[in-house]
Amino acid sequence: MNSGANPPVEKKTRRILMTSALPYANGPIHLGHMVEVIQADIWARFQKMRGHECYYVCAEDAHGTPIMIRARNEGITPEQLIARMYDEHRRDFTGFLVEHDNYHTTHSTENRELATLIYETLRDGGYIARRTIRQAYDEKEGMFLPDRFIKGTCPRCGADDQYGDNCEACGATYSPADLKNPVSVISGTTPVERESEHFFFTLDRFADSLKAWMTQAGLHPAVRAKLEEWFEAGLQDWDISRDAPYFGFEIPDAPGKFFYVWLDAPIGYLASFKALCAKRGLDFDEWLAPDSDTEMVHFIGKDIYYFHTLFWPAMLKGAGFRQPSGVFVHGFLTVNGAKMSKSRGTFILAKTYLDHLDPEYLRYYFAGKLGPGVDDIDLNLEDFVARVNADLVGKVVNIASRCAGFINSRFDGKLAGVMKEPELFAEFATAATGIAQAYENREYSRAMRDIMLLADKANQYIDAHKPWVLAKDPARVTEVHDICTVGLNLFRQLVVYLKPVLPKLAERTEAFLQIEPLEWDDAQRPLLDHAISAFKPLMTRIDPKQIDALIEKTREDVAKENATAGRKQAKAAQDVAPLAETISIDDFARVDLRIARIVKAEPVEGADKLLRLTLDIGSETRNVFAGIKSAYEPAALEGRLTVMVANLAPRKMRFGISEGMVLAAGPGGKDIFILEPDQGAQPGMRVK
Ligand code: 2FM
Ligand code: ZN
Repeated sequence: MNSGANPPVEKKTRRILMTSALPYANGPIHLGHMVEVIQADIWARFQKMRGHECYYVCAEDAHGTPIMIRARNEGITPEQLIARMYDEHRRDFTGFLVEHDNYHTTHSTENRELATLIYETLRDGGYIARRTIRQAYDEKEGMFLPDRFIKGTCPRCGADDQYGDNCEACGATYSPADLKNPVSVISGTTPVERESEHFFFTLDRFADSLKAWMTQAGLHPAVRAKLEEWFEAGLQDWDISRDAPYFGFEIPDAPGKFFYVWLDAPIGYLASFKALCAKRGLDFDEWLAPDSDTEMVHFIGKDIYYFHTLFWPAMLKGAGFRQPSGVFVHGFLTVNGAKMSKSRGTFILAKTYLDHLDPEYLRYYFAGKLGPGVDDIDLNLEDFVARVNADLVGKVVNIASRCAGFINSRFDGKLAGVMKEPELFAEFATAATGIAQAYENREYSRAMRDIMLLADKANQYIDAHKPWVLAKDPARVTEVHDICTVGLNLFRQLVVYLKPVLPKLAERTEAFLQIEPLEWDDAQRPLLDHAISAFKPLMTRIDPKQIDALIEKTREDVAKENATAGRKQAKAAQDVAPLAETISIDDFARVDLRIARIVKAEPVEGADKLLRLTLDIGSETRNVFAGIKSAYEPAALEGRLTVMVANLAPRKMRFGISEGMVLAAGPGGKDIFILEPDQGAQPGMRVK
């Protein structure tokens, strides 16, 4: 096992399985997710560059009520929803240059088998208790309600529209039974209390073994301190079952009961790895054996470490598997110093970012901010532009662009045969140890600082030797060759150190220098007497206008999402609206429906929703007020056919008399559709 927070950087080949948290398959990836995934990807790339055997796996977290409900709202199956999310999430991760060795789903055969195995071993070991509990139940939907699916008035401060488990207004936490005027978010009805038998994992039975695990696992002191607090408060049994209907795996010996999503989510790490083992011929059992000499580390956010530092190691222990050797916890992302906000345009989706900016800018910026602790990190957009432009373009890439031209134009594209500044080169080479240690400990900000100090030195060297001045003197041409060879070698060393963060920059550099993919130890050997290719810009500056466009597009994304949510709400309201009293066919026959041509459509002064329509029904024209202004430009309606109730008694309205009614349907807003007959229709025709 790993010896703690600061393991020494070893030379021996290590075998490492690493994961980052599985994203829920019901929402898009945003920049908050990317902090962790970039942090993990940098670590994976670093380990691989060092020659270690490292596998980074992840998966879709595909189960649970929210996914089931979302699929239902979209009119698709949960399987269809998770398949779509799988593609979208992979597209975004790949866009950010994240290289998962395997990307799987928790709704997979491997996961079903592993979850069953783990559950049955825990059950047979006496670690599963059954108890009957009372829970909120939606009688209309025929389902128990998770806390998040109940809303009501906070019992402490009286704020309305609060979730069943906590109040966002006053911060109180409570049980849904305490909520006043509770309402099911799904059906809008008042839930009742109902009993059901649940399955519990007896966590406290693992208290001693967890304490032992905690001392040897790689945990940050802040995480360890929190664990101590939890031990002191006493470990509670954990409810691992949910009643049907539920999208997940049915518990083998309990029809109608399902594993709670959080039971099979971390098992999804193993399922993904198992699928990888099958592809690559690795021995899953050996990696997962309790005495395995491999490492298993999890990168997670600070909101979910209870699951990863208590339930998960206890489940693994009880099921006879190895436990994690490290749980690496990071803080949340803020943008411009505040929580990501939809109204400020800072709730930035991964896809929107990628449509506007290079992924390596953000990888570098996050690396510059990330440490091993749980502090939040801030993406300050002004600072982001300044830092990327100054460091990557102004310092690093600049070294190459200052030297490459001379090598290409004066020396036939060939580097000199000797390293004229062996001490400077050695200083850069020696820095490898400290930078590697910083990567290993996830002190990326320190690594970036050290690398930029070296970049400053390389630029100072070029400034001091001024090859552009020497180049004018034919007697000093050899010096120019030597200086530029030194410059390009220093640049190459920097690119080695930056490669875990900037894999594309490294790739372009490898092409430009005409070399094999850079490995960590390449920083120890100079590149001499070697032909390079013509220089192409390796990275461009960020134009602040790109940031403006990103924010603008983010605002548009949010507006679109709100409009969709509005339509869904209106639709849900209609879905639950009670049906009117039944009418007879005779009643219906009394309604005279006629084709009408909209001759004129105009806004009504003082009315937000109404349009005044002049309708031609063949024998006469009618003046009708219709509440369709939100959906139609008046001019677009003129000349179109619609259907109207022609024998409705005239009604006096505030703006005049309405002589009939136009038929329209839809949830509201932009989606109100006037009913249009076929083209063959003529004004005055009866509609049957
Ligand atoms: O909090 C979340 O987004 C969860 N989907 C993370 C699961 S991590 C692991 F346990 F699977
Ligand atoms: Zn409250």
